[in-house]
Amino acid sequence: MGFLDRLFGNTNKEEETMTNSKLKIGIILGSTRQGRVSPQVGEWVKGIADKRGDADYEIVDIADFKLPFLGEADAPGIAAWNEKLASLDGFVFIVQEYNHSITGALKNALDLAREAWNNKAAGIVSYGSTGGARAAEHLRGILGELKVADVRTHPTLSLFTDFENGSVFKPAELHLTNVNAMLDEVNQWSGALKTIR
Ligand SMILES: Cc1cc2nc3c(=O)[nH]c(=O)nc-3n(C[C@H](O)[C@H](O)[C@H](O)COP(=O)(O)O)c2cc1C
Repeated sequence: MGFLDRLFGNTNKEEETMTNSKLKIGIILGSTRQGRVSPQVGEWVKGIADKRGDADYEIVDIADFKLPFLGEADAPGIAAWNEKLASLDGFVFIVQEYNHSITGALKNALDLAREAWNNKAAGIVSYGSTGGARAAEHLRGILGELKVADVRTHPTLSLFTDFENGSVFKPAELHLTNVNAMLDEVNQWSGALKTIR
């Protein structure tokens, strides 16, 4: 990039990608209720992710933003939520099944941003009586509309075999391979999509 480009603030996307090579991936907790188990699942994914050293991973807790429902009076949390999403290159959604779909809190949080989601990648880790599969498939439909590319590999956790009494998270060993494969895909696609933003 030449002197004039620097002076006028023109950026070279290829150069930017090479110098800021560490991607930022947010691990989004989809539930907000008191007594929720999503923080345990999110911390477990973050522990696996941090060992890889290939990206900067952070937990993003929807509950921290005190988001209003879409259409209610504006609240500072909406701008903060959009800024947080805009700072990220990709996502891992921690998804729990509520009445065969995602939580209302996650749907509202998805609805409260648009451009900040666009042209990014996401993986899904879900749980429920059938591994949260129905909620995860609903989420995939929503992500398409938000121009988020959801990767194929999808760890599914069972409320019966991966939790004690449905509340203490004790994941089976076999999920580790799937979580790493999902993170491989999220990183590849997040890096690729960064070049078109
Ligand atoms: C309102 C509500 C509806 C639920 N519906 C389902 C369901 O349709 N299928 C399922 O597998 N689990 C269902 N569950 C069980 C949840 O998946 C389980 O409680 C899980 O721990 C919720 O995630 P959380 O602890 O992070 O909130 C439901 C739970 C709630 C609170």
